[in-house]
Amino acid sequence: MEHVDAIILGAGAAGLMAAIAAGRRGRRVVVVDHAPQVGSKILISGGGRCNFTNTGTAADRFLSANPRFARAALHRYKPSDFLALVEKHRIPWHEKTLGQLFCDNSARDIVAMLLAECQAAGVTIRTGVRVTEVSKPGRFRVVANGRETEAPALVLATGGLSIPKMGATGFSLDLARRFGLPVVEPRPGLVPLTFEGEMLELMRPLSGLSLPAVARFGKTPRFPEAVLFTHRGLSGPAILQVSSYWQPGQAFSLDLLPGQDPVALLLARKQSRPRAEPRTVLGEFLPQRLAQALGGAWFTGTEMANQPDRALRAAGEKLRALPLAPSGTEGYAKAEVMLGGVDTAVLHPDTLQARSVLGLFVVGEAVDVTGWLGGYNFQWAWASGWCAGEAI
Ligand code: FDA
Repeated sequence: MEHVDAIILGAGAAGLMAAIAAGRRGRRVVVVDHAPQVGSKILISGGGRCNFTNTGTAADRFLSANPRFARAALHRYKPSDFLALVEKHRIPWHEKTLGQLFCDNSARDIVAMLLAECQAAGVTIRTGVRVTEVSKPGRFRVVANGRETEAPALVLATGGLSIPKMGATGFSLDLARRFGLPVVEPRPGLVPLTFEGEMLELMRPLSGLSLPAVARFGKTPRFPEAVLFTHRGLSGPAILQVSSYWQPGQAFSLDLLPGQDPVALLLARKQSRPRAEPRTVLGEFLPQRLAQALGGAWFTGTEMANQPDRALRAAGEKLRALPLAPSGTEGYAKAEVMLGGVDTAVLHPDTLQARSVLGLFVVGEAVDVTGWLGGYNFQWAWASGWCAGEAI
């Protein structure tokens, strides 16, 4: 039997950060992961360049049943703290847009940095191992590949359910339930949306087309970013963002001409271009393929002069707030994150320790805290992992 101070399940972003923080404080830490390598999701993140944080990090950029919960951890470990680590390791980085920080070269730099920090902190990492038993006879006891390890602290850091083909599992959620912690029902987030029927007929031929728009669901934040048509519906950053807020059976809206007054534009064109076809007029403001599709779907008659003002107003309203009711999402296979997770009501916000089980911590995506697209999810993983590591 091996005795250590902490066992961390999951060698991803949050687990490695927890290990580094605890190891630096002299704690003996063992991290176990079933994948053959550490940080698989870090490696594929940000198109291979890892959008490792966002300078605009604030609790209101996260979804949770308790929107205030993330505040404490995000305040204790900030984007500037992670950036200091990146700079200490001389990793070249750049800011893209909207405060998103990426590696210049490769996400591999971030994984190498975390491994170097783990090594310096004396952390033991075991990859490619199967955890067959987790119990708490007194201390926590974990059996992995037949080896028994015991510790007074156990960190659940196996992430969420997105991209199961990369080995994502609900292990942390299952264990949390076994220890009596409630779980907010998980669902895919930051995920492409699918459509059916006439709407899909309209969208499918536009597959590959991208345009700037503003997506919004009800009174939730507006997302002014790109929208991409796919063969199943819609994707692109604006859609991924709104997907996390969207509720099945309901519609969200797209402003296709952000910052413009489409009703006024169409009425003015009726005067200034009376002989033009509506689809040609739409082509002044929208990509040609989309203008052709919408012109065909929304207008009858050939010339602007023949369009009743009422029809132009209705079309203008749709350009300003096109109501779209998806039939579903592309699911965990395509989702960047999992929404929901271990209920924050049972965790201490400063340490991520369970209120009812001394020594049990839950960090990263397994917690019911999910960020917007743009580096927020890694910042949550670093911050929650660091807070747990400081408390072990
Ligand atoms: P993470 O998933 O990183 O780690 C969990 C670890 O647990 C894995 O190593 C896994 O192998 C292991 N594990 C799982 N089940 C296990 C079991 N049963 N036994 C043992 N080990 C087990 N975020 C962001 O901020 N910027 C970005 O650029 C991106 N890009 C991005 C791209 C894509 C394609 C995806 C899918 C996701 C992103 N994300 C992102 C989200 C980000 O990757 C995610 O939020 C964090 O990796 C979560 O960190 P965790 O440590 O919680 O889980």
